[in-house]
Amino acid sequence: MVSDEHGRYVVLISGPMEQHEPTISVEIAGLPVEVAQAVHAELDELRSRLNVYRGQVLDVSLMPGGGVALTFGDLPATTRDDVVLPEHVLQRVERHALAVAGHRDALLKAGQHLKRGLLLFGPPGTGKTHTMRYLVGRMDGYTRLILSGRALHAIGSASELARDLEPAVIVLEDVDLVAGDRSFGFGATPVLFELLNAMDGAAADADLLFVLTTNRADLLEPALAARPGRVDVAVEIDLPDADARRRLLALYGRGVQLQLTEHDLDEIVARTDGVTASFLKELLRRAVLAALEQGDAYTAVTSNHTTAALDDLLHTNQQLTRSLLGVGNNPEDLPAGGGIGSPPPQRGRARAWFSGAGSAGP
Ligand SMILES: Nc1ncnc2c1ncn2[C@@H]1O[C@H](COP(=O)(O)OP(=O)(O)OP(=O)(O)O)[C@@H](O)[C@H]1O
Ligand SMILES: [Mg+2]
Repeated sequence: MVSDEHGRYVVLISGPMEQHEPTISVEIAGLPVEVAQAVHAELDELRSRLNVYRGQVLDVSLMPGGGVALTFGDLPATTRDDVVLPEHVLQRVERHALAVAGHRDALLKAGQHLKRGLLLFGPPGTGKTHTMRYLVGRMDGYTRLILSGRALHAIGSASELARDLEPAVIVLEDVDLVAGDRSFGFGATPVLFELLNAMDGAAADADLLFVLTTNRADLLEPALAARPGRVDVAVEIDLPDADARRRLLALYGRGVQLQLTEHDLDEIVARTDGVTASFLKELLRRAVLAALEQGDAYTAVTSNHTTAALDDLLHTNQQLTRSLLGVGNNPEDLPAGGGIGSPPPQRGRARAWFSGAGSAGP
């Protein structure tokens, strides 16, 4: 029972009932209709503004009954230095995600939309998820919803929530995995179409960022091209080039006593053309192990250790290991056997994806 400037009236709040949709209903009695509607509107505004999920990182998951659950997510702290990508690639990603947020009011005044879609695509293990975590970590003040796997089916509810709690980011991880999936619900539309509808449904002036990651851009391209404008920037995250491999070695070697000369580093870089970041991470781990196994107290990792680790990882009988680290097993793709001086492996695979899209505008 309420008594305030509107008068004396009754608000009935009923919580979710077992076996029913998890909803709360609010009914108001004892006020003229327009006044009751104004109270409803005020409650609605407060619900959105004071929402406990506003500005948080949230993992979205599906519950067995079909409901959607939100858990407060815990992103590993990722700094810009932790993300090893060619500078122009990282800048393009940042510009699309962060710069728009910085110029929000000016863009709206100029009649430009804020809603935007960013697709990160490229081979497995190259840092799409890693880059997404860095971006999302930087977007304080945004409500950040992360969906992966089966939870992508919750895209409808998630985008409704995001619209309510904007500015917001909706991350859709590995969209290709469920893109054509119709197995959910009766006559459900493929998730990809639901997704495109959700991106379309949001008002253009809503500050919403959709981040999609995939390693099968070829599967998504037809659907995205058929309904243009949802994803405005596609950025290719490719296998690390020589410069990036050197930076990755420095990154993963940060906590390690490395006694490697420039020449040793050159050698590792030359022998690892075509590998993923995960491979280099494993290489250093093995080199540390090799140093530890020498018996004496471990002091430093030298080129003996890195060479032994690399020989082992590149050995022909380590195909499955390499594959698990994201390195292709096509003999032409492999640095295997290729010591220093062997011709650089052909990596047609990495380049054939979504040709040209990596250079799409800002
Ligand atoms: N460019 C990079 N810079 C720094 N670390 C990286 C990079 N790429 C990958 N890594 C490291 O390798 C791990 C695996 O990469 P990540 O999960 O981001 O790959 P992915 O591109 O999302 O692969 P997938 O297509 O299989 O999802 C990361 O957690 C990170 O430690
Ligand atoms: Mg990933």
